[in-house]
Amino acid sequence: MKNFIKKIFKKAGFVVRRRTVDFNLPKMNYEDISQLLFFKRCFDYLGKVDGDVVECGVGQGKSLLSLAFLIKDEMSGRKIWGFDSFEGFPEPSREDQSLRNVKKGDIYSNINSSNIVTFFEIAGMDRLLVKHQVNLIKGFFKNTLTTYRGSQIALLHIDADLYDSYLDVLRELYPKVAKGGIIIFDEYITTADYSKFPGASKAVDEFFGQLKSNIRRDKITGKYYLVKT
Ligand SMILES: C[S@@+](CC[C@H](N)C(=O)[O-])C[C@H]1O[C@@H](n2cnc3c(N)ncnc32)[C@H](O)[C@@H]1O
Repeated sequence: MKNFIKKIFKKAGFVVRRRTVDFNLPKMNYEDISQLLFFKRCFDYLGKVDGDVVECGVGQGKSLLSLAFLIKDEMSGRKIWGFDSFEGFPEPSREDQSLRNVKKGDIYSNINSSNIVTFFEIAGMDRLLVKHQVNLIKGFFKNTLTTYRGSQIALLHIDADLYDSYLDVLRELYPKVAKGGIIIFDEYITTADYSKFPGASKAVDEFFGQLKSNIRRDKITGKYYLVKT
């Protein structure tokens, strides 16, 4: 049956390409769709704020893919930078202790800089856009974030779960966020992941001090974000 369908497609002039990398595309669920719409609202808010999009904590690449679709839609030529160890978490700190019992190496991802083009292509993204606008940087944040060579940051998405990881990102990249740029905290106070990853909120509160009162909550997703002033 498969071959029959392939033959028909070939006859109709379609190129039937073999997948060289075989892995399961992560399944999108309602939460991911709602996140995509939240990102879209952020993009609309950004309007003319120049700059790149940076994600710290790529994991399975679901949110990165949503961001890539928005960049494509916007046709602005912004680049996306995805930072991740691609080997899971570093050693958690005392601040991360919770019933979730998070451990070094948790949250393994099967995408990386060599299969990202295929992964995004299977998901329907243009190969050229991925090649020219999506950059994945492998390694622990404390070693990699200093190598960031993109332009100023318009949107910073932090989805890194841990106390030290959040602090590494905020110390290194917050100064590079443009005025009017947005920082999204995937795990913060009342979000569903708060009880599993309490270290993330502690890091955000510590880093921003009194400025934390400027952190806003998106009413629909319940996610928190800050517009840099
Ligand atoms: C919850 S997952 C990200 C999920 C992803 N945004 C998605 O939509 O699928 C968290 C990721 O952060 C990465 N991470 C956490 N701390 C890190 C650090 N200090 N350096 C590099 N990667 C880190 C982990 O490897 C993991 O892949």
